Amino acid sequence: HAHIDFATPEKVDAAIAAGHTHPTIPDYETLETCLANGGYSVLADLRKNGDFETVQQRLLDSGLRGLGGAGFPSGKKWGFVRAEPGPRYVAVNGDEGEPGTFKDRYYLERVPHLFLEGMLIAAWAVEADTCFIYMRDEYPAVLEILAREIAALEEAGIAPKGYIELRRGAGAYICGEESAMIESIEGKRGIPRHRPPFVAQVGVFGRPTLVNNIETLHWVARVLREGPEILSDHEHNDRKGLRSYSVSGRVKNPGVYLLYAGSTITDIIKAAGGMMDGHSFKAYQPGGPSSGLLPASMSDIPLDFDTLQPHGSFIGSAAVVVLSDKDSAKQAALNMLRFFEDESCGQCTPCRVGCEKAVKLMEADTWDQPLLDELCTAMGDASICGLGQAAPNPIRSTIKFFPEEI
Ligand code: NAI
Ligand code: SF4
Repeated sequence: HAHIDFATPEKVDAAIAAGHTHPTIPDYETLETCLANGGYSVLADLRKNGDFETVQQRLLDSGLRGLGGAGFPSGKKWGFVRAEPGPRYVAVNGDEGEPGTFKDRYYLERVPHLFLEGMLIAAWAVEADTCFIYMRDEYPAVLEILAREIAALEEAGIAPKGYIELRRGAGAYICGEESAMIESIEGKRGIPRHRPPFVAQVGVFGRPTLVNNIETLHWVARVLREGPEILSDHEHNDRKGLRSYSVSGRVKNPGVYLLYAGSTITDIIKAAGGMMDGHSFKAYQPGGPSSGLLPASMSDIPLDFDTLQPHGSFIGSAAVVVLSDKDSAKQAALNMLRFFEDESCGQCTPCRVGCEKAVKLMEADTWDQPLLDELCTAMGDASICGLGQAAPNPIRSTIKFFPEEI
Protein backbone atom coordinates (compact mmCIF):
# COMPACT_ATOMS: atom_id res chain seq x y z
CA HIS A 1 0.00 0.00 0.00
CA ALA A 2 2.70 2.47 0.87
CA HIS A 3 4.35 4.28 -2.03
CA ILE A 4 7.91 5.03 -1.06
CA ASP A 5 10.25 6.52 -3.62
CA PHE A 6 13.40 7.61 -1.83
CA ALA A 7 15.06 10.52 -3.54
CA THR A 8 18.63 9.93 -4.73
CA PRO A 9 20.98 12.95 -4.98
CA GLU A 10 20.73 12.67 -8.80
CA LYS A 11 16.93 12.79 -8.66
CA VAL A 12 17.02 15.81 -6.36
CA ASP A 13 19.45 17.65 -8.69
CA ALA A 14 17.33 16.83 -11.73
CA ALA A 15 14.15 17.96 -9.98
CA ILE A 16 15.70 21.26 -8.90
CA ALA A 17 17.05 21.86 -12.41
CA ALA A 18 13.55 21.22 -13.80
CA GLY A 19 12.09 23.77 -11.34
CA HIS A 20 10.13 21.17 -9.36
CA THR A 21 9.20 21.69 -5.72
CA HIS A 22 9.55 18.01 -4.92
CA PRO A 23 12.35 15.65 -5.91
CA THR A 24 10.20 12.67 -6.73
CA ILE A 25 6.63 12.88 -7.90
CA PRO A 26 4.81 9.55 -7.49
CA ASP A 27 3.27 7.90 -10.54
CA TYR A 28 -0.26 9.18 -10.79
CA GLU A 29 -3.10 9.23 -13.29
CA THR A 30 -2.63 12.36 -15.43
CA LEU A 31 -5.47 14.18 -17.19
CA GLU A 32 -4.61 12.48 -20.47
CA THR A 33 -4.94 8.97 -18.99
CA CYS A 34 -7.97 9.98 -16.97
CA LEU A 35 -9.82 11.26 -20.08
CA ALA A 36 -8.90 8.07 -21.97
CA ASN A 37 -10.50 6.11 -19.09
CA GLY A 38 -13.78 8.03 -19.30
CA GLY A 39 -12.96 10.71 -16.72
CA TYR A 40 -14.93 13.99 -16.76
CA SER A 41 -17.78 12.48 -18.82
CA VAL A 42 -20.12 12.74 -15.80
CA LEU A 43 -19.22 16.42 -15.41
CA ALA A 44 -19.73 17.06 -19.15
CA ASP A 45 -23.18 15.37 -19.05
CA LEU A 46 -24.22 17.34 -15.96
CA ARG A 47 -23.12 20.63 -17.50
CA LYS A 48 -25.17 19.82 -20.62
CA ASN A 49 -28.44 18.71 -19.05
CA GLY A 50 -27.93 17.76 -15.40
CA ASP A 51 -30.65 17.95 -12.78
CA PHE A 52 -29.54 18.92 -9.26
CA GLU A 53 -32.27 16.98 -7.42
CA THR A 54 -31.31 13.74 -9.25
CA VAL A 55 -27.63 14.17 -8.37
CA GLN A 56 -28.45 15.03 -4.77
CA GLN A 57 -30.66 11.95 -4.48
CA ARG A 58 -27.86 9.71 -5.78
CA LEU A 59 -25.52 11.07 -3.13
CA LEU A 60 -28.12 10.56 -0.41
CA ASP A 61 -28.81 7.01 -1.70
CA SER A 62 -25.09 6.18 -1.49
CA GLY A 63 -25.02 7.26 2.17
CA LEU A 64 -21.92 9.40 1.51
CA ARG A 65 -21.03 11.47 4.57
CA GLY A 66 -18.32 14.08 5.15
CA LEU A 67 -15.01 12.23 5.32
CA GLY A 68 -13.03 15.09 6.88
CA GLY A 69 -14.32 13.49 10.06
CA ALA A 70 -17.67 15.00 11.00
CA GLY A 71 -19.81 12.72 8.81
CA PHE A 72 -22.38 15.34 7.80
CA PRO A 73 -24.55 13.93 4.93
CA SER A 74 -22.97 15.34 1.76
CA GLY A 75 -26.14 15.65 -0.35
CA LYS A 76 -27.87 17.58 2.43
CA LYS A 77 -25.00 20.08 2.75
CA TRP A 78 -25.03 20.75 -1.00
CA GLY A 79 -28.77 21.52 -0.70
CA PHE A 80 -28.13 24.06 2.10
CA VAL A 81 -25.55 25.97 0.05
CA ARG A 82 -27.55 25.91 -3.17
CA ALA A 83 -30.57 27.37 -1.35
CA GLU A 84 -28.56 30.48 -0.39
CA PRO A 85 -28.37 33.50 -2.73
CA GLY A 86 -25.29 33.77 -5.01
CA PRO A 87 -22.46 34.39 -5.52
CA ARG A 88 -21.39 31.14 -3.87
CA TYR A 89 -18.01 29.45 -3.47
CA VAL A 90 -16.54 26.01 -3.02
CA ALA A 91 -13.67 25.70 -0.51
CA VAL A 92 -11.94 22.33 -0.36
CA ASN A 93 -10.39 21.34 2.94
CA GLY A 94 -7.08 19.64 2.11
CA ASP A 95 -5.42 20.63 5.38
CA GLU A 96 -5.13 17.02 6.48
CA GLY A 97 -3.56 17.82 9.84
CA GLU A 98 -5.07 15.25 12.19
CA PRO A 99 -2.13 13.22 13.52
CA GLY A 100 -2.31 9.75 12.02
CA THR A 101 -4.46 10.79 9.04
CA PHE A 102 -2.97 10.41 5.54
CA LYS A 103 -5.80 9.09 3.37
CA ASP A 104 -6.34 12.31 1.36
CA ARG A 105 -2.67 12.33 0.46
CA TYR A 106 -2.89 8.65 -0.55
CA TYR A 107 -5.65 9.35 -3.10
CA LEU A 108 -4.18 12.65 -4.36
CA GLU A 109 -0.81 11.02 -5.08
CA ARG A 110 -2.51 8.32 -7.16
CA VAL A 111 -5.79 9.49 -8.70
CA PRO A 112 -5.99 13.30 -8.29
CA HIS A 113 -8.57 13.65 -11.05
CA LEU A 114 -11.23 11.73 -9.15
CA PHE A 115 -11.03 14.50 -6.55
CA LEU A 116 -10.78 17.29 -9.15
CA GLU A 117 -13.79 16.01 -11.10
CA GLY A 118 -15.73 15.59 -7.82
CA MET A 119 -14.88 19.19 -6.92
CA LEU A 120 -16.05 20.52 -10.31
CA ILE A 121 -19.27 18.48 -9.95
CA ALA A 122 -19.80 20.06 -6.50
CA ALA A 123 -19.15 23.49 -8.03
CA TRP A 124 -21.72 22.73 -10.74
CA ALA A 125 -24.20 21.61 -8.06
CA VAL A 126 -24.00 24.81 -6.02
CA GLU A 127 -23.30 27.02 -9.06
CA ALA A 128 -20.06 28.26 -7.53
CA ASP A 129 -18.14 31.26 -8.87
CA THR A 130 -14.72 29.99 -7.75
CA CYS A 131 -13.20 26.86 -6.17
CA PHE A 132 -10.53 27.34 -3.52
CA ILE A 133 -8.34 24.34 -2.67
CA TYR A 134 -6.65 24.79 0.72
CA MET A 135 -3.78 22.30 0.66
CA ARG A 136 -1.34 21.67 3.46
CA ASP A 137 2.20 22.72 2.67
CA GLU A 138 3.60 19.55 4.21
CA TYR A 139 2.49 17.71 1.03
CA PRO A 140 4.86 19.27 -1.56
CA ALA A 141 4.38 16.45 -4.08
CA VAL A 142 0.61 16.89 -3.91
CA LEU A 143 0.94 20.65 -4.38
CA GLU A 144 2.97 20.10 -7.49
CA ILE A 145 0.61 17.44 -8.87
CA LEU A 146 -2.37 19.74 -8.32
CA ALA A 147 -0.65 22.77 -9.87
CA ARG A 148 0.21 20.71 -12.98
CA GLU A 149 -3.21 19.11 -13.33
CA ILE A 150 -5.17 22.34 -12.72
CA ALA A 151 -3.12 23.89 -15.55
CA ALA A 152 -3.95 20.84 -17.71
CA LEU A 153 -7.68 21.25 -16.94
CA GLU A 154 -7.49 24.91 -18.00
CA GLU A 155 -5.59 23.98 -21.16
CA ALA A 156 -8.23 21.37 -22.02
CA GLY A 157 -11.03 23.90 -21.46
CA ILE A 158 -12.59 21.83 -18.63
CA ALA A 159 -12.08 24.63 -16.08
CA PRO A 160 -11.92 28.31 -17.02
CA LYS A 161 -8.58 29.98 -16.30
CA GLY A 162 -8.43 31.12 -12.65
CA TYR A 163 -11.61 29.23 -11.73
CA ILE A 164 -9.63 26.90 -9.41
CA GLU A 165 -7.40 28.68 -6.88
CA LEU A 166 -4.76 26.56 -5.17
CA ARG A 167 -3.89 27.95 -1.73
CA ARG A 168 -1.03 26.71 0.46
CA GLY A 169 -1.48 26.24 4.18
CA ALA A 170 1.44 27.04 6.45
CA GLY A 171 1.47 24.27 9.01
CA ALA A 172 -1.20 25.36 11.50
CA TYR A 173 -3.46 22.49 12.60
CA ILE A 174 -6.25 24.94 13.44
CA CYS A 175 -6.47 26.03 9.78
CA GLY A 176 -8.16 22.66 9.15
CA GLU A 177 -11.13 23.92 11.18
CA GLU A 178 -13.40 25.12 8.40
CA SER A 179 -13.97 28.72 9.53
CA ALA A 180 -10.26 29.19 10.42
CA MET A 181 -9.44 27.83 6.94
CA ILE A 182 -11.77 30.44 5.46
CA GLU A 183 -10.10 33.23 7.45
CA SER A 184 -6.76 31.97 6.11
CA ILE A 185 -8.07 31.86 2.52
CA GLU A 186 -9.13 35.49 2.99
CA GLY A 187 -5.53 36.32 3.89
CA LYS A 188 -6.06 36.70 7.62
CA ARG A 189 -4.72 34.87 10.66
CA GLY A 190 -6.49 31.48 10.83
CA ILE A 191 -8.70 31.52 13.91
CA PRO A 192 -12.12 29.84 14.16
CA ARG A 193 -15.31 31.88 13.93
CA HIS A 194 -18.35 31.39 16.13
CA ARG A 195 -21.08 29.14 14.67
CA PRO A 196 -23.84 29.89 13.70
CA PRO A 197 -23.86 31.32 11.13
CA PHE A 198 -22.59 28.18 9.38
CA VAL A 199 -20.21 28.59 6.47
CA ALA A 200 -23.00 27.35 4.21
CA GLN A 201 -24.55 30.78 4.85
CA VAL A 202 -21.53 33.00 5.61
CA GLY A 203 -18.26 31.62 4.27
CA VAL A 204 -15.43 32.91 2.07
CA PHE A 205 -15.64 36.73 1.82
CA GLY A 206 -19.01 36.55 3.59
CA ARG A 207 -20.60 34.47 0.81
CA PRO A 208 -22.34 31.06 1.07
CA THR A 209 -19.61 28.43 0.79
CA LEU A 210 -19.60 24.69 0.30
CA VAL A 211 -16.76 23.20 2.34
CA ASN A 212 -15.96 19.58 1.48
CA ASN A 213 -12.99 17.38 2.29
CA ILE A 214 -10.74 15.89 -0.46
CA GLU A 215 -11.83 12.28 0.05
CA THR A 216 -15.52 13.22 0.12
CA LEU A 217 -15.15 14.74 -3.36
CA HIS A 218 -13.18 11.70 -4.55
CA TRP A 219 -16.22 9.57 -3.66
CA VAL A 220 -18.64 12.05 -5.23
CA ALA A 221 -16.97 11.37 -8.60
CA ARG A 222 -17.02 7.62 -8.03
CA VAL A 223 -20.64 7.50 -6.85
CA LEU A 224 -21.85 9.47 -9.85
CA ARG A 225 -19.68 7.47 -12.26
CA GLU A 226 -20.29 3.97 -10.86
CA GLY A 227 -23.60 4.34 -8.99
CA PRO A 228 -24.59 4.77 -5.32
CA GLU A 229 -24.27 0.98 -4.89
CA ILE A 230 -20.46 1.18 -4.81
CA LEU A 231 -20.95 2.41 -1.26
CA SER A 232 -24.45 1.36 -0.24
CA ASP A 233 -24.13 -2.30 -1.32
CA HIS A 234 -21.41 -3.02 1.25
CA GLU A 235 -22.61 -4.12 4.66
CA HIS A 236 -20.66 -5.41 7.66
CA ASN A 237 -21.65 -5.52 11.34
CA ASP A 238 -24.96 -3.79 10.43
CA ARG A 239 -23.09 -0.77 9.02
CA LYS A 240 -23.24 0.28 5.38
CA GLY A 241 -20.47 1.64 3.16
CA LEU A 242 -16.70 1.68 2.95
CA ARG A 243 -14.10 3.56 4.97
CA SER A 244 -10.48 4.52 4.20
CA TYR A 245 -8.65 3.83 7.45
CA SER A 246 -5.19 5.41 7.87
CA VAL A 247 -3.44 2.77 9.98
CA SER A 248 -0.21 3.36 11.86
CA GLY A 249 1.53 2.38 15.09
CA ARG A 250 2.60 -1.12 16.09
CA VAL A 251 1.28 -2.99 13.04
CA LYS A 252 3.40 -4.84 10.47
CA ASN A 253 2.21 -2.87 7.41
CA PRO A 254 1.07 0.68 8.16
CA GLY A 255 -0.86 2.31 5.31
CA VAL A 256 -4.29 3.28 3.99
CA TYR A 257 -6.79 0.43 3.91
CA LEU A 258 -10.17 0.68 2.20
CA LEU A 259 -12.37 -1.64 4.26
CA TYR A 260 -16.02 -2.02 5.26
CA ALA A 261 -17.25 0.99 7.25
CA GLY A 262 -18.27 -1.44 10.00
CA SER A 263 -14.76 -2.84 10.47
CA THR A 264 -13.57 -3.45 14.01
CA ILE A 265 -10.02 -2.86 15.23
CA THR A 266 -9.50 -6.64 14.95
CA ASP A 267 -10.36 -6.48 11.20
CA ILE A 268 -8.11 -3.45 10.76
CA ILE A 269 -5.06 -4.94 12.50
CA LYS A 270 -5.53 -8.09 10.41
CA ALA A 271 -5.65 -6.04 7.18
CA ALA A 272 -2.43 -4.28 8.23
CA GLY A 273 -0.58 -7.60 8.55
CA GLY A 274 -1.10 -8.12 12.28
CA MET A 275 0.88 -6.74 15.20
CA MET A 276 4.63 -6.20 14.85
CA ASP A 277 6.68 -9.13 16.08
CA GLY A 278 7.22 -9.01 19.82
CA HIS A 279 4.27 -6.66 20.41
CA SER A 280 0.87 -7.51 21.83
CA PHE A 281 -2.17 -5.31 21.25
CA LYS A 282 -2.94 -2.98 24.16
CA ALA A 283 -4.92 0.06 23.02
CA TYR A 284 -5.94 2.13 20.00
CA GLN A 285 -6.77 5.63 18.94
CA PRO A 286 -9.78 5.22 16.61
CA GLY A 287 -9.89 8.66 14.97
CA GLY A 288 -7.15 11.12 15.83
CA PRO A 289 -6.05 12.38 19.25
CA SER A 290 -9.41 14.06 19.89
CA SER A 291 -11.03 10.60 19.89
CA GLY A 292 -8.91 9.51 22.89
CA LEU A 293 -7.71 5.96 23.56
CA LEU A 294 -9.72 2.74 23.77
CA PRO A 295 -8.46 -0.49 25.39
CA ALA A 296 -7.88 -3.78 23.54
CA SER A 297 -10.83 -5.26 25.46
CA MET A 298 -13.10 -3.03 23.31
CA SER A 299 -12.09 -4.60 20.03
CA ASP A 300 -15.49 -5.65 18.70
CA ILE A 301 -17.00 -2.18 18.08
CA PRO A 302 -17.62 -1.28 14.41
CA LEU A 303 -15.46 1.81 13.79
CA ASP A 304 -17.99 3.97 11.95
CA PHE A 305 -19.78 7.28 12.42
CA ASP A 306 -22.15 7.20 15.44
CA THR A 307 -20.93 3.86 16.87
CA LEU A 308 -18.32 5.21 19.31
CA GLN A 309 -20.31 8.03 20.93
CA PRO A 310 -21.60 5.79 23.76
CA HIS A 311 -17.95 5.19 24.70
CA GLY A 312 -17.05 8.90 24.72
CA SER A 313 -15.18 8.60 21.42
CA PHE A 314 -15.75 8.99 17.65
CA ILE A 315 -14.27 7.78 14.39
CA GLY A 316 -13.46 11.24 12.95
CA SER A 317 -11.14 10.97 9.98
CA ALA A 318 -10.47 7.26 10.73
CA ALA A 319 -6.87 7.81 11.88
CA VAL A 320 -6.26 4.50 13.63
CA VAL A 321 -3.11 4.33 15.75
CA VAL A 322 -2.34 0.97 17.36
CA LEU A 323 -0.45 0.81 20.69
CA SER A 324 1.18 -2.26 22.19
CA ASP A 325 2.28 -3.55 25.59
CA LYS A 326 5.51 -1.57 25.00
CA ASP A 327 3.56 1.74 25.05
CA SER A 328 2.20 3.78 27.92
CA ALA A 329 -1.37 5.12 27.61
CA LYS A 330 -0.46 7.85 30.08
CA GLN A 331 2.49 9.02 27.95
CA ALA A 332 0.41 8.80 24.77
CA ALA A 333 -2.32 10.99 26.32
CA LEU A 334 0.30 13.50 27.50
CA ASN A 335 1.76 13.61 24.00
CA MET A 336 -1.71 14.36 22.58
CA LEU A 337 -2.28 17.23 25.05
CA ARG A 338 1.15 18.66 24.22
CA PHE A 339 0.04 18.66 20.59
CA PHE A 340 -3.19 20.50 21.44
CA GLU A 341 -1.25 22.98 23.60
CA ASP A 342 1.06 23.73 20.65
CA GLU A 343 -1.76 23.98 18.15
CA SER A 344 -4.36 25.95 20.18
CA CYS A 345 -4.92 29.22 18.33
CA GLY A 346 -5.06 31.00 21.70
CA GLN A 347 -8.29 32.84 20.98
CA CYS A 348 -10.24 31.56 23.97
CA THR A 349 -9.12 31.06 27.56
CA PRO A 350 -10.55 27.59 28.34
CA CYS A 351 -8.49 26.08 25.51
CA ARG A 352 -5.37 28.29 25.60
CA VAL A 353 -4.91 28.11 29.39
CA GLY A 354 -6.68 24.77 29.81
CA CYS A 355 -4.33 22.83 27.50
CA GLU A 356 -1.28 24.33 29.23
CA LYS A 357 -2.62 23.49 32.71
CA ALA A 358 -3.61 19.98 31.63
CA VAL A 359 -0.08 19.28 30.37
CA LYS A 360 1.40 20.43 33.70
CA LEU A 361 -1.01 18.23 35.67
CA MET A 362 -0.38 15.25 33.39
CA GLU A 363 3.40 15.52 33.77
CA ALA A 364 3.07 14.65 37.46
CA ASP A 365 3.83 11.09 38.61
CA THR A 366 0.28 10.78 39.88
CA TRP A 367 -2.60 12.59 38.24
CA ASP A 368 -4.80 14.92 40.34
CA GLN A 369 -8.00 13.38 39.03
CA PRO A 370 -10.63 15.71 40.58
CA LEU A 371 -8.75 18.80 39.34
CA LEU A 372 -8.24 17.32 35.87
CA ASP A 373 -11.92 16.38 35.76
CA GLU A 374 -12.97 19.95 36.61
CA LEU A 375 -10.58 21.33 34.00
CA CYS A 376 -11.92 18.92 31.34
CA THR A 377 -15.49 20.08 32.04
CA ALA A 378 -14.55 23.76 31.69
CA MET A 379 -12.66 23.12 28.45
CA GLY A 380 -15.42 20.98 26.94
CA ASP A 381 -18.21 23.38 27.92
CA ALA A 382 -16.63 26.73 27.18
CA SER A 383 -14.16 26.40 24.27
CA ILE A 384 -15.14 28.03 21.00
CA CYS A 385 -14.23 25.25 18.57
CA GLY A 386 -13.71 21.50 18.31
CA LEU A 387 -10.04 21.65 19.27
CA GLY A 388 -10.64 22.86 22.83
CA GLN A 389 -13.93 20.96 23.16
CA ALA A 390 -12.35 17.60 22.27
CA ALA A 391 -8.90 18.12 23.84
CA PRO A 392 -10.09 16.59 27.17
CA ASN A 393 -10.97 13.26 25.47
CA PRO A 394 -7.50 11.65 25.82
CA ILE A 395 -7.51 12.65 29.53
CA ARG A 396 -10.97 11.27 30.21
CA SER A 397 -10.36 8.02 28.31
CA THR A 398 -7.06 7.39 30.11
CA ILE A 399 -8.71 7.94 33.51
CA LYS A 400 -11.57 5.62 32.51
CA PHE A 401 -9.74 2.79 30.74
CA PHE A 402 -6.18 2.85 32.12
CA PRO A 403 -6.59 3.85 35.80
CA GLU A 404 -3.64 1.66 36.86
CA GLU A 405 -1.23 3.93 34.91
CA ILE A 406 -2.14 7.27 36.42
P1 NAI B 1 -19.42 19.69 12.66
O1 NAI B 1 -20.22 18.46 12.92
O2 NAI B 1 -19.64 20.86 13.53
O3 NAI B 1 -19.71 20.20 11.16
C1 NAI B 1 -19.60 19.36 10.04
C2 NAI B 1 -19.97 20.11 8.79
O4 NAI B 1 -21.38 20.26 8.68
C3 NAI B 1 -19.40 21.53 8.70
O5 NAI B 1 -19.07 21.80 7.35
C4 NAI B 1 -20.55 22.40 9.16
O6 NAI B 1 -20.49 23.70 8.63
C5 NAI B 1 -21.74 21.64 8.59
N1 NAI B 1 -22.97 21.84 9.35
C6 NAI B 1 -23.28 21.29 10.55
N2 NAI B 1 -24.51 21.69 10.92
C7 NAI B 1 -24.98 22.53 9.94
C8 NAI B 1 -26.18 23.27 9.75
N3 NAI B 1 -27.17 23.24 10.63
N4 NAI B 1 -26.30 24.02 8.63
C9 NAI B 1 -25.30 24.07 7.72
N5 NAI B 1 -24.15 23.38 7.84
C10 NAI B 1 -23.98 22.62 8.93
O7 NAI B 1 -17.89 19.25 12.68
P2 NAI B 1 -16.53 20.05 12.43
O8 NAI B 1 -16.16 20.82 13.65
O9 NAI B 1 -16.60 20.81 11.14
O10 NAI B 1 -15.48 18.87 12.23
C11 NAI B 1 -15.10 18.04 13.31
C12 NAI B 1 -14.43 16.80 12.79
O11 NAI B 1 -13.25 17.13 12.09
C13 NAI B 1 -14.03 15.83 13.89
O12 NAI B 1 -14.73 14.64 13.68
C14 NAI B 1 -12.53 15.62 13.70
O13 NAI B 1 -12.19 14.27 13.80
C15 NAI B 1 -12.31 16.10 12.30
N6 NAI B 1 -10.95 16.60 12.07
C16 NAI B 1 -10.32 16.16 10.94
C17 NAI B 1 -9.05 16.55 10.63
C18 NAI B 1 -8.38 16.02 9.40
O14 NAI B 1 -7.17 16.19 9.26
N7 NAI B 1 -9.10 15.37 8.50
C19 NAI B 1 -8.32 17.51 11.49
C20 NAI B 1 -9.07 17.89 12.67
C21 NAI B 1 -10.34 17.46 12.93
FE1 SF4 C 1 -8.67 28.60 19.37
FE2 SF4 C 1 -8.74 26.55 21.11
FE3 SF4 C 1 -10.57 28.44 21.25
FE4 SF4 C 1 -10.54 26.72 19.16
S1 SF4 C 1 -10.98 26.21 21.29
S2 SF4 C 1 -10.89 28.93 19.08
S3 SF4 C 1 -8.32 26.44 18.93
S4 SF4 C 1 -8.36 28.73 21.57
